[in-house]
Amino acid sequence: MNYRVPRTRKEIFETLIRGLQRLEYRGYDSAGVAIDGNNNEVKERHIQLVKKRGNVKALDEELYKQDSMDLKVEFETHFGIAHTRWATHGVPNAVNSHPQRSDKGNEFVVIHNGIITNYKDLRKFLESKGYEFESETDTETIAKLIKYVFDNRETEDITFSTLVERVIQQLEGAFALVFKSIHYPGEAVATRRGSPLLIGVRSKYKLSTEQIPVLYRTRNIENVKNICKTRMKRLDSSACLHAVGDKAVEFFFASDASAIIEHTNRVIFLEDDDIAAVADGKLSIHRVKRSASDDPSRAIQTLQMELQQIMKGNFSAFMQKEIFEQPESVFNTMRGRVNFETNTVLLGGLKDHLKEIRRCRRLIVIGCGTSYHAAVATRQVLEELTELPVMVELASDFLDRNTPVFRDDVCFFISQSGETADTLLALRYCKDRRALTVGVTNTVGSSISRETDCGVHINAGPEIGVASTKAYTSQFISLVMFGLMMSEDRISLQDRRREIIHGLRSLPGLIKEVLSLDEKIHDLALELYTQRSLLVMGRGYNYATCLEGALKIKEITYMHSEGILAGELKHGPLALIDKQMPVIMVIMKDPCFAKCQNALQQVTARQGRPIILCSKDDTESSKFAYKAIALPTTVDCLQGVLSVIPLQLLSFHLAVLRGYDVDFPRNLAKSVTVE
Ligand code: G6P
Repeated sequence: MNYRVPRTRKEIFETLIRGLQRLEYRGYDSAGVAIDGNNNEVKERHIQLVKKRGNVKALDEELYKQDSMDLKVEFETHFGIAHTRWATHGVPNAVNSHPQRSDKGNEFVVIHNGIITNYKDLRKFLESKGYEFESETDTETIAKLIKYVFDNRETEDITFSTLVERVIQQLEGAFALVFKSIHYPGEAVATRRGSPLLIGVRSKYKLSTEQIPVLYRTRNIENVKNICKTRMKRLDSSACLHAVGDKAVEFFFASDASAIIEHTNRVIFLEDDDIAAVADGKLSIHRVKRSASDDPSRAIQTLQMELQQIMKGNFSAFMQKEIFEQPESVFNTMRGRVNFETNTVLLGGLKDHLKEIRRCRRLIVIGCGTSYHAAVATRQVLEELTELPVMVELASDFLDRNTPVFRDDVCFFISQSGETADTLLALRYCKDRRALTVGVTNTVGSSISRETDCGVHINAGPEIGVASTKAYTSQFISLVMFGLMMSEDRISLQDRRREIIHGLRSLPGLIKEVLSLDEKIHDLALELYTQRSLLVMGRGYNYATCLEGALKIKEITYMHSEGILAGELKHGPLALIDKQMPVIMVIMKDPCFAKCQNALQQVTARQGRPIILCSKDDTESSKFAYKAIALPTTVDCLQGVLSVIPLQLLSFHLAVLRGYDVDFPRNLAKSVTVE
């Protein structure tokens, strides 16, 4: 939203479309915008909606086809909204895409991330009141509901934010919402519960405050009308953010900072149930109940993220760029934390809780997808270094089982985005049971990083490719660093600690060495890309590599792929082995080496043709290999950081050869903020 910053419609389009493109990794099956109509007279504005099935580029092209849109018309105050969708309710098409509207006159329009779980009841109620629905989405009920509240308002001067406040009290589920209305031209209202939302602030002028005090309304909805009036008075003075002296200011609402970072790095993260409203260039935040954190204000934070960090550079896909960034991202994860001279590790976000963690009775490490694999990958070294029982859990299953959790448990939540709904729900479940909660995320200000008691930021830099790569290796290193920090006083573990810390130091260089195998892996992909299936087998420290490698292959190549624990080979998967079935075997020089040799023999005895990822100095395995890729060696418990990279590269090349969009695989989204 711009206030006293004249912008042409073309500039407004460009801002919205560029923002959507940066968010496209969250969803990309359809997209839409709502902007003010042609009439420049504020009071008579109408809202124009343009929606399109397909990616953001398709929407961009559609916008310029609209004859009725004068691109040069200039707005001094304007508020446009845009959305890119990942379908949950209703197929991807223009009608189901957002913004959703209240009626054919577009009186209220809304964009939504998340899921409204009670939408069927709400829809039934609204239909009984004569509201007609046009889409299959849960979001449309929100647009209709706000119109219902507006149509039934008891006073003419009800504010836009009061309407929204009443609407969200009826909603169950998760949401980040932004509303626009012809009844409140030049005003914006946004709110969230469970889904992320932030506000970027840009002004050339000094801002009135760096902390916006939050206004609390009464719990009693009947009293809202009176309270509103008194509150609104206060809003004008101390409780608003604006550029001093009514100067020009722009506000950007987004679910992720990457969408707005090119305009401003000054942002406010909203808490659940905050209602943020902009009117007359002033931003205010209010809520009905006090927040969980009980922080009575929201601070403007300055983000360090650079635009270049989220640009593709010379790479053909974000995923490829992110794979090749790993020497630096892994280094950044350790920077300032591992002291190679004194062999010590200090994770600032955990140090105040270390005593409590050391006293706990077990560690539970919870995540989804790749983040879960990072937990599997480090389980053994965590057990060894902490001398505690370690459970690793898929968040959804952990919740399905109502897993017993106690106050002397320490629960880790691994999440690149920090927003994954399943992981967030598991976190709240553990908090309710008074366990100590630790976040391991890549996103400052994310829900998981804010709601946990303490945590580690993995510092991998923004990850855009849906298939996670550099976040995995940084999560891996972060968990190893935690183990090292826990074991500092254990005399019996000192040699092992030194060995691991020494290994950490040489990792970035060894990752570079693995990346130099890219061409060889491309050649392997040329041989494999027409196959339907690909098995990946290993055990011990490298089992997680197999799970993660198979996940990468599934996600972006759409080939069937399975990560198999070599110890289970004889209990079933062996039946799949024949001359045709491609099998990748991960065999490293570690305590499982001899057992892996057995598996290799079992495979070759059935005419299998194993492609082996092995250590450079392993002459034994390569004798039986149909193809071998030799990797540099590091400490056994860190080898997984190196052995996963050839599989990341392989999945990338396979997907490109099969003609698929690597960064935007079908049916998947980077950040799944729905259960
Ligand atoms: C989605 C992504 C996966 C990711 C998982 C967990 O399913 O497609 O790549 O591993 O979510 O995401 P998180 O942000 O919690 O690590």
